[in-house]
Amino acid sequence: MTRVALAFSGGLDTTVCVPLLEEEYGHDDVIGVTVDVGQPAEEFDEAEETAEALGLELHVVDAREEFAQLCLESVRANASYQGYPLGTALARPVIANAILEVAKERDCDAVAHGCTGKGNDQLRFEAIWRDSDLDVYAPVRELGLTREWEQEYAEEKDLPVEGGSGGDWSIDTNIWSRSIEGDELEDPNYVPPKEIYEWTAEPTGETEEIEITFENGYPVAVDGEEMGSVSLIEQLNELAGAYGVGRTDSMEDRMLGLKVRENYEHPAATTLLNAHEALEALVLTQEEREFKQLVDQRWSKKGYEGLVDAPLVDALEGFIAETQKRVTGTVTIRFEGGQARAVGRDSEYAAYSASHASFDTETVGSIEQEDATGVAKYHGFQRRLAKKAAQKAAGTELSADGGSEE
Ligand code: ARG
Repeated sequence: MTRVALAFSGGLDTTVCVPLLEEEYGHDDVIGVTVDVGQPAEEFDEAEETAEALGLELHVVDAREEFAQLCLESVRANASYQGYPLGTALARPVIANAILEVAKERDCDAVAHGCTGKGNDQLRFEAIWRDSDLDVYAPVRELGLTREWEQEYAEEKDLPVEGGSGGDWSIDTNIWSRSIEGDELEDPNYVPPKEIYEWTAEPTGETEEIEITFENGYPVAVDGEEMGSVSLIEQLNELAGAYGVGRTDSMEDRMLGLKVRENYEHPAATTLLNAHEALEALVLTQEEREFKQLVDQRWSKKGYEGLVDAPLVDALEGFIAETQKRVTGTVTIRFEGGQARAVGRDSEYAAYSASHASFDTETVGSIEQEDATGVAKYHGFQRRLAKKAAQKAAGTELSADGGSEE
């Protein structure tokens, strides 16, 4: 008896994989696993109904808490890739691990996914699965399936797939983002119609302000009300989405090098990332902020690759954790015109002194305005020397009294 655990959504790709794993890969038994990372209820209904019609044993695993926690880790790293806050990317390792657990519990010999050979998800899933000694199958890629072939095969086999209008976008939803791609959207010049958006309303003239509380870089409360990670993200998706916050339309460079036209909605992510950056700007030193940009960028890259458990990420998180010890305080965010803008920030760790920086105060402690005179004389000194030398060499020196600085 051989058994394979398939990442199952009830969509066309994963539905055709069920009989194909028996016919083409010779498995006696296929089980389906659907992992909950905050998809809408209809998706679970679709998975359950399709599984029932196929006679497929289906396991639904709730990984929302774990996924939300990873999303909040990504906030501490200000994580985004080419403008996209990594919803799909961060969910994949969580899903892959959950499937692996079910596969082990159910004594499977193999795991399988229905991803194509063009996208990122095949790489993200398999990076996790190949840590185990189970066989890894990718029928869509390995058998070179096309959607057209799948549709015909489904019809022939009388598989329970939706009528297939053919005009639908491919959508991937979890609590961190909703991604919309495919169909007409594959034309980079095709302007997305309003109907593609489900989480974000068209921005109106209305505005609203909310206050987000951070502890050690983690958001913990909205308007003073403490809540768990999942509820906090869900609530902010609602609040910010109503003002049209968090839409991205981008040409994304995938890992294989192919570009893809992507549209995303991510109201909570945009709100939290903006708020977190605003608080870091208040409490971190200039040199910490500069260096952290590099760290954040590397974290984001690993996040995009689905490799958040790489040793590099642990090392980067060591630095991040040290900086986040002071990222505690509140940020006021204003939703306005599709934006979530920080309009106030407060922290007991502020590396800021209003009295030192103000135009209104002459002397604070021992520092006086005059003290900057020496700095001002030196500022740009090498540049001044270099320009003079170049002018001299070119014989275009403007005045004779220039070279007094040696
Ligand atoms: N391109 C994105 C990524 O690799 C998201 C893809 C989402 N899939 C979809 N069917 N919309 O992270």
